[in-house]
Amino acid sequence: MKIEFVGHGLEADSKAALAVLVGEKQPLVGAAATLDERTGGALRRAIDGGRFNGEKGQTLDLIAPHNVAAARVLLVGVGAAWPLASDALESAAAQAYNGVKATGVETLVVSLGGVGADGAASAAFGIRLAAYRFDRYRTTEKSDKKPSVRKVIIEADDPKAAAKAFKRLSGLADAVTLARDLVSEPANILYPEEFARRVKALTSIGLGVEILGEKEMKKLGMGALLGVGQGSVRESQLAVIQWKGAKDPDAQPIAFVGKGVCFDTGGISLKPPEGMEEMITDMGGAAAVTGAMYALAARKAKVNAVGILGLVENMPDANAQRPGDVVTTMSGQTVEVINTDAEGRLVLADALWYCQNRFKPKLMVDLATLTGAIIVALGKDVGGLFSNNDELSERLLAASKSTGDALWRLPMPPQYDKHIDSAVADMKNVGPRYGGSITAALFIQRFVNSLPWAHLDIASTAWKPNSTVATIPSGATGFGVRLLDRLVADNYED
Ligand code: BES
Ligand code: MN
Ligand code: ZN
Repeated sequence: MKIEFVGHGLEADSKAALAVLVGEKQPLVGAAATLDERTGGALRRAIDGGRFNGEKGQTLDLIAPHNVAAARVLLVGVGAAWPLASDALESAAAQAYNGVKATGVETLVVSLGGVGADGAASAAFGIRLAAYRFDRYRTTEKSDKKPSVRKVIIEADDPKAAAKAFKRLSGLADAVTLARDLVSEPANILYPEEFARRVKALTSIGLGVEILGEKEMKKLGMGALLGVGQGSVRESQLAVIQWKGAKDPDAQPIAFVGKGVCFDTGGISLKPPEGMEEMITDMGGAAAVTGAMYALAARKAKVNAVGILGLVENMPDANAQRPGDVVTTMSGQTVEVINTDAEGRLVLADALWYCQNRFKPKLMVDLATLTGAIIVALGKDVGGLFSNNDELSERLLAASKSTGDALWRLPMPPQYDKHIDSAVADMKNVGPRYGGSITAALFIQRFVNSLPWAHLDIASTAWKPNSTVATIPSGATGFGVRLLDRLVADNYED
């Protein structure tokens, strides 16, 4: 899809849709007012004659009135908040795209009416996010079922400045797209080595990438991570991604760690078949970290950052680890594996330990589709935040607010920690049924020394089968990419 910026967007052509923004119960302004005038009040009549009143989320699709060079005109409600902030423009433009994408029009002209370069760029960004589609494996889909919009034209006061502002956001959209693609790929295609190959390809945008195989991880003593992958014919991998953008190349990095379980059958503690296919998304944390590292490199962020991905496949097998097995982690601590389906924390234990010991980072944030319990607690729109540090938590919550990657902080009561004590090893990998996301976080914390650390449980948000958010098509959300990019931009750059 091509996106262009022009100085005036009211001229389209007979195969185009023209989208204009309308405030709630307000007089028409900007492009909508101009159009209304030019058409002898056709817009006003359409609005007054129906239920559309400019409320946020509403759209009204009209045949283009006489005197307008377009096939259709789409009114997009933006609510009362005029002038529009960038997130409102992002979602209004996404709605405009969603409203016409399957109508057969090939061009969408979005008339924003008097917004600055950043606002126009945000609108373009919203359309990029909304237009995401994972259709790699659809070979027989009829062309009249596919989205028809090929070109988007966005009106901006200063088109040159808008194009420049969009350049940065376009890199971020690519980063979200990358994360969504990784999450969407089935596990027969995207297994640990293939994930590692795709990460390795990112050296082309300036990222440093190292891949450790099972031999190297064995030498390092990563018995917990390796135990999870033991039943798979696919070799486990650890990917180390580095971005050095700070003035001082040796400045302490910030670190992101991702759970990359390419498929989670549960192992010998096998999951029930219903919905198991969704476990192709169990590498959503690793995908978010990969996307975030991409975003930093794409905009040449002035920061040193490290991304560590623990890539494994959790399978039942004659060689798979058993409930009752005791594994020794890289930290030296031992774990009694009570349930082989609580595998993500085992992967993170070694990945986090490796990260903090090798890189001595300023802080660590891990992202993981860790527990079904977080979905019970927060539903499908909000991720869980656990942390040992209030400042880092506040910064994450602020980034969460401004990007829409919603988070809610949950407690880590110290008295729950004993729930994962084991009679035979230093700890066991599951606690009691209640508070399952909390005991999982407490487990991970046992592998974090005294540095600021946050754990994001994104089992709730990595995958949305029925999305109602305009910028997130149903499926892989890319949750975490924008969040981490913003966390860095607002707090950790030179
Ligand atoms: N990958 C799952 C968590 C998950 C559930 C992700 C639903 C996405 C959607 C994780 O490995 C898991 O199986 N967790 C168990 C832990 C339990 C055995 C303590 C769970 O949540 O049931
Ligand atoms: Mn599991
Ligand atoms: Zn899992």
